[in-house]
Amino acid sequence: MPLTFVILGATGDLTSRKLIPALYELHRKKKLSTGFRVLGAARTVMTDEQWREKLQETSPKFLDGKLDEQAWQDFASRVHYQPLNIRDPEDFQRLAARCAELEGTEKVVRVYYLATAPELYGDAVTRLGAVGLADETDGARRIVIEKPFGVDLSSARALNDVVHKVFPERQIFRIDHYLGKETVQNLLVLRFANTIFEPVWNRNYVDHVQITVAEDVDVGQRGDYYDGAGVLRDMFQNHLLQLMTITAMEAPVRFEADAVRDEKVKVLRSIKPLAGADFAQHTFRGQYQGYRDISGVLPDSETATFAALRLHIDNWRWQGVPFYLRSGKALSCRTTQIVVQFRRPPHILFDSNGALEGDRLVVQVQPAEGIQLHFQTKVPDAGMRLRLTDLAVDFRREFSGPLPDAYQRLLLDAASGDASLFARSDEVEVAWSIIDPIHASWKSPAAPRLEVYEAGFWGPPSCTQWLRDQGREWFDVCPVLN
Ligand code: BG6
Repeated sequence: MPLTFVILGATGDLTSRKLIPALYELHRKKKLSTGFRVLGAARTVMTDEQWREKLQETSPKFLDGKLDEQAWQDFASRVHYQPLNIRDPEDFQRLAARCAELEGTEKVVRVYYLATAPELYGDAVTRLGAVGLADETDGARRIVIEKPFGVDLSSARALNDVVHKVFPERQIFRIDHYLGKETVQNLLVLRFANTIFEPVWNRNYVDHVQITVAEDVDVGQRGDYYDGAGVLRDMFQNHLLQLMTITAMEAPVRFEADAVRDEKVKVLRSIKPLAGADFAQHTFRGQYQGYRDISGVLPDSETATFAALRLHIDNWRWQGVPFYLRSGKALSCRTTQIVVQFRRPPHILFDSNGALEGDRLVVQVQPAEGIQLHFQTKVPDAGMRLRLTDLAVDFRREFSGPLPDAYQRLLLDAASGDASLFARSDEVEVAWSIIDPIHASWKSPAAPRLEVYEAGFWGPPSCTQWLRDQGREWFDVCPVLN
């Protein structure tokens, strides 16, 4: 069936940086239906031709300069534009008329992508519904909603209510681009398409799990947004908790949307709520030096740009195994990694000064995607001296061609109606219910101290000490694979 991709917020940064390059690449690789078209909509008044010209200017830099002239011309001929003010109901009538004009009498799959400011999501959905644009008589209609989905539990619930009045859950695709990353999907394959990892993937063998999303970039131009959000809302409620669910979930009965999401929701529901002294003992917050000088940030801002949490999953598999989640801006490097740290052997035969490290499995999500298994090996010609060595799979070496950007996979899934890698309404709400109490505690006397850290390192040194006091070490290696 032909596909129409309607982007609301077409002149924004997300559209030029991610959506158009991903759609162009998918079209170039012939992964989209032959009757594919894009209809961009935003407040600026422009013609189709003017938008095409703008995109031709911006796209090469987001495609590493790789714009195939012929493929681009074909893609551009399918790109259209319709001025639209989300506050104006009549503009939605015009949008509906434009869709009808472009599509004719064909049945089409139409995907609406909300790439607008989040405060407009509710109005946009209501108005799409009001002019019949959610109606499926003439083909499937789907809506993709970018993060943030609400700013807390009550706003997420309110938004779910508004969206559900127009689109049933099966038509809704809440995007978390971390789930589109190849290595995150590969974690499902590693766990559930192999037999050797699953038997040790539990409290009997695992000492703890570390999930780190470190960024070397700082808040940059996004002070206005970031100062209200902070790292908990910006990174933990979505990306970090998603990585945690994929690491900890049980095998779904089938690889299909509801079966996968049921298992992920079970993990979230099993996370032990923090209470009382836990907030000071099991959460850690930091702010990089210089953050308060950024435009849009309050001069006495207490917003955290770094956080570490110790969470527990109260279920049979993970009882007693801490999950350490950590993320921050202005750190020493960009790395996203999941480290499964196995227990030490119960009886040490070889002389190791009592410091024999346990084995570990490192999933390097980005950059330099791959997997490493670290285990003890005898150092040759040195008696029985041991050293941790590794077996590594480097995706780029193993598989030829560049790895696709996460948006390619997710846009393709939305087009084909597969919601396995998108968050369901209950998932988003439970995730907020985990983050909200931590956020509230950080504004109360129960808050841990806000530690100021120097940019360019692994966050506040006291965070290293915090873990050391628990008899553990952060795996501060970056990147794991080169
Ligand atoms: C976004 C956050 O969701 O993810 C940003 O709003 C963050 O603050 C970004 O920089 C990180 O994404 P990636 O794919 O570059 O790791």
